[in-house]
Amino acid sequence: MEKNQTIHRKKFLQQAVALGAGSVIAPQILKANNFFKADKKIRVAVIGCGSVSNMYFPHLSKNPFAELVCTCDIIPERAQKAATKYNIPKWYPNITDMLAGTNFDLMINLTNMQEHEHLNRQAIQSGRNVWSEKPMANSYKAGAELLELAKSKNLRIWGAPCVVQSPQFVFMAQAVKDGKLGKPAAATAHYGHLGPTWSAFFYEKGGGSLPDLGVYNIASLTGILGPARSVVAMTSIITETRHTDNKPVVKVEAEDNAALLMEHSNGTISHVMCGFNYFDPYGHEGTGQEKPTISIVGTKGSMHLIGYDWKPFGVDLATPEDEKGTRYVTDAGNYVWEMGASVIIEGMATGKEPRINVEHALHVLEIIEATRTSQATGKRIPLQSTFKWPMEGGFTYSGRS
Ligand SMILES: NC(=O)c1ccc[n+]([C@@H]2O[C@H](COP(=O)([O-])OP(=O)(O)OC[C@H]3O[C@@H](n4cnc5c(N)ncnc54)[C@H](O)[C@@H]3O)[C@@H](O)[C@H]2O)c1
Repeated sequence: MEKNQTIHRKKFLQQAVALGAGSVIAPQILKANNFFKADKKIRVAVIGCGSVSNMYFPHLSKNPFAELVCTCDIIPERAQKAATKYNIPKWYPNITDMLAGTNFDLMINLTNMQEHEHLNRQAIQSGRNVWSEKPMANSYKAGAELLELAKSKNLRIWGAPCVVQSPQFVFMAQAVKDGKLGKPAAATAHYGHLGPTWSAFFYEKGGGSLPDLGVYNIASLTGILGPARSVVAMTSIITETRHTDNKPVVKVEAEDNAALLMEHSNGTISHVMCGFNYFDPYGHEGTGQEKPTISIVGTKGSMHLIGYDWKPFGVDLATPEDEKGTRYVTDAGNYVWEMGASVIIEGMATGKEPRINVEHALHVLEIIEATRTSQATGKRIPLQSTFKWPMEGGFTYSGRS
């Protein structure tokens, strides 16, 4: 995916200040604990050297707070190739050898979705912090147990995505907080394409378009509108058989088509649809997408995110004083979707607490599970998890993207 343009930070800050965004972007320094390694490079291991690693490695290589110490993949030549390309001293063919062989602070888990949970658990059990691609576990319960395990060892775990880092997210969250929309009533968001072609796991049990694609919109809408209380949803399978680079015939078992409604506080209702059967002229990379993918309307305003939340281009905001609306935040600064682990590493190295937080990731995971339960039972599903909202604090990543 193409990189974002140069930082027009001054312009972004002017727009943010116009909305009174100071409290959302203000950095928040954490109390010291033994997990933070102030003024020290964080030693980083990457497990899973497939497609997404091609985006992570270049970003991590430029991270001034990171020292890449080893790679790992059960297809060992992938681990070796990445280690050679990015000048990383060690590579391993499995996690057990990696945990025993190299000392490091953070494991970045970029493996198949179904593998995340047990690898994250093994890493935490051996004293490592974890950044996990989505989902961080195969169920909400297992994810919550991972968090408890990490806490019991004074470690941390975080889960992708990192959409809350974008300046467009900050702008939208602040607009809602400041009442620019009046009372938020309804929202809709969508993300889809024709599905990954390289790996079968996306379509097998534990995969699906919800944890791969819907996860971004669910994170954005809950981050902007607040935690959801309940979910009602439908899912289906549109394409029963797929062909992927690593498996000629894949029986599709996970949903490749989903639509869900979330109930937020004060009556706000939001809708997400996602799937692997969406004709999309912008392709998997999303290049050229200039239409809204998230719209929020309230009693005094409407707001549209231009482009995808993982690759935003601007926010259109209309209010009674500006009925035709104005486009704000047309520059994403150094935000790119693959930066989540880099942000966490800066937080670990400096003691600043990121806006990305694990309670939010767990809430999103519970919503994904509730969506499937609603389809299976035909019922509205109450949610138990929550997170601190509005999502204040955090910091802008100080490295290059
Ligand atoms: N590809 C993308 O554009 C993209 C974007 C954002 C997020 N993601 C997420 O990243 C994750 C990986 O996706 P991908 O597209 O890179 O898949 P991929 O199939 O290209 O890569 C996964 C890699 O993990 C390795 N692996 C699997 N099990 C392992 C284990 N137990 N130990 C070590 N290595 C193991 C595989 O051999 C493979 O090389 C998924 O969670 C996906 O949702 C992918």
